[in-house]
Amino acid sequence: MSDFDLKKYLEAQRKKVETALDGLLPHTTDPSAPVMEAMRYSIMAGGKRIRPILMLAGAEAVGEGDDALLPAACALECLHTYSLIHDDLPAMDNDDLRRGRPTCHKVYGEAIAILAGDGLLNYSFELLSSEEIRKSIDPELLMEAISIFSRASGVFGMVGGQTADIIYEGKPIDAETLAFIHRHKTGALLAVSVEMGAVLGGADEVQRNALKEYGQALGLTFQIVDDILDIVGDESVIGKPVGSDTRNQKATYPALFGLEAARSKADELLEQALKALEGFDHRADPLRAIARYVVERNR
Ligand code: IPE
Ligand code: IPE
Ligand code: MG
Ligand code: MG
Ligand code: MG
Repeated sequence: MSDFDLKKYLEAQRKKVETALDGLLPHTTDPSAPVMEAMRYSIMAGGKRIRPILMLAGAEAVGEGDDALLPAACALECLHTYSLIHDDLPAMDNDDLRRGRPTCHKVYGEAIAILAGDGLLNYSFELLSSEEIRKSIDPELLMEAISIFSRASGVFGMVGGQTADIIYEGKPIDAETLAFIHRHKTGALLAVSVEMGAVLGGADEVQRNALKEYGQALGLTFQIVDDILDIVGDESVIGKPVGSDTRNQKATYPALFGLEAARSKADELLEQALKALEGFDHRADPLRAIARYVVERNR
């Protein structure tokens, strides 16, 4: 590959996204202040910011990286952070640590944590349809992006996958059902991040389909690696509890196939993701490097 410096790129993009998020979620002083504090607590806690970064990289692969897309990138991070807050609740995975901090419900209580998730979910749509973004993006492209984002995050995507994840705790599962869970609970949002970048960046049909294929392979491999890190990860590095899946008897790739087979599957999907980018020039180098990073990451 070219001399593309991923570390530098990720750091710069992460900073850009975090500065934007900080400005988009202002402290409030009215009686609703606790929910905004809880939203800020979870979203400003760090995290890889991989979804917004993927969106910006998807747009870059087909055109120019454009700061006008930052509110849309932040919408993805808001949606994702809502899913994490709810995922950690006692009624779901019942985890106490997230992004290196006590989970939202541990600090603010369950009611405020549920509301903070709801607040972030709805704010993501507010951002996507905000006046600022409407000023710079073609309305039809924006509507298309909102449409695929809604589907990927709802019952046909993340919410559906989270449902199956919970339903199958402690139950026997086959490979097909496990793939359904992973594609929906995690794959859908990662894939749509790249696809939204393609749409908003003005991709043609062929480019959009290729980037979608890349995102789908990447999304599935992302969750397989997350499952692996739940076993072999270092808690102080991943910033969340190790062994949560085992405790909850979750359906995971290592549980069903073993660690080695899970690693092979992740590698196979990486190759698939890279292959989908074959028709792209150097502007897709960030996407190529991110795919490798997703499989090699330790957090
Ligand atoms: C964790 O997502 C939840 C999954 C979908 C696996 P990330 O691994 O992207 O978490 P952060 O955003 O970096 O904290
Ligand atoms: C969660 O999967 C996917 C979400 C939609 C949040 P996990 O339950 O494995 O995510 P972590 O390991 O808690 O981050
Ligand atoms: Mg979960
Ligand atoms: Mg979890
Ligand atoms: Mg996990």
